[in-house]
Amino acid sequence: MKGVILAGGLGSRLYPLTKITNKHLLPVYDRPMIHYPIQCLINAGITDILVVTGGNSAGDFLQLLGNGSDFGLKGINYTYQQGEGGIADALSLAEHFAEGEPIAVVLGDNLIEGNIRQAVEDFRAQGGGAKILLKEVHDPERFGVASLDEAGRVLRIVEKPQQPETNLAVIGIYLYDARVFDFIGRLEPSARGELEITDVNNFYIDDGSMTAEVLNGWWTDAGTFESLLRASNMVAQGGANRMDL
Ligand code: G1P
Repeated sequence: MKGVILAGGLGSRLYPLTKITNKHLLPVYDRPMIHYPIQCLINAGITDILVVTGGNSAGDFLQLLGNGSDFGLKGINYTYQQGEGGIADALSLAEHFAEGEPIAVVLGDNLIEGNIRQAVEDFRAQGGGAKILLKEVHDPERFGVASLDEAGRVLRIVEKPQQPETNLAVIGIYLYDARVFDFIGRLEPSARGELEITDVNNFYIDDGSMTAEVLNGWWTDAGTFESLLRASNMVAQGGANRMDL
């Protein structure tokens, strides 16, 4: 299994912090934001990693991460997203890197307290399809929101609903088989002009091959002033990417 970290975008919700740099290079407590998704993948045993960046300061990722040796990696791969095509458009750049293998995709502004080892094992055991991770939140309208049936199967995901059916946010860590790139190829841009990861997930739901698990420990994004501050506080209080959770 290979890992893909999506670290592009303009970070416009964090302007002017992102006026001259990339959101994923901003500090979260004592580290640059991008360190957390890298460690998340490594803790799950995924060491073949592609960083998809874009927007401002793309070259600074090289200077910061180099060949990955600070993380004990033998190397690290990079690519660049041109324009603002959205998360699924950024992911499409990983097709040649994936070489038909399943992938773990992490949004570069997502931090977790625990780890995804068990979810990755469960995904391997399901032998294809996709898996998403869910977390109860108090502000589901900010996220993709999942509705489940009584057996815990995902019925649908709605992106940033005005009236959410549940408080289960779809967190920015996704496990996909190689068909993800075919599904991305069938997407149409959303109202905000982007290829949405939620539409990719809904293809898997329609296909009957999507599973979901609720994540243990805290989760936060860090793409707004409020969530960036929360992320720093969470890390300061208890640490992120703990192996004991
Ligand atoms: C993205 C996804 C959303 C997901 C969220 C997790 O939203 O579109 O479905 O719940 O990441 O962080 P964005 O932060 O790009 O608006």
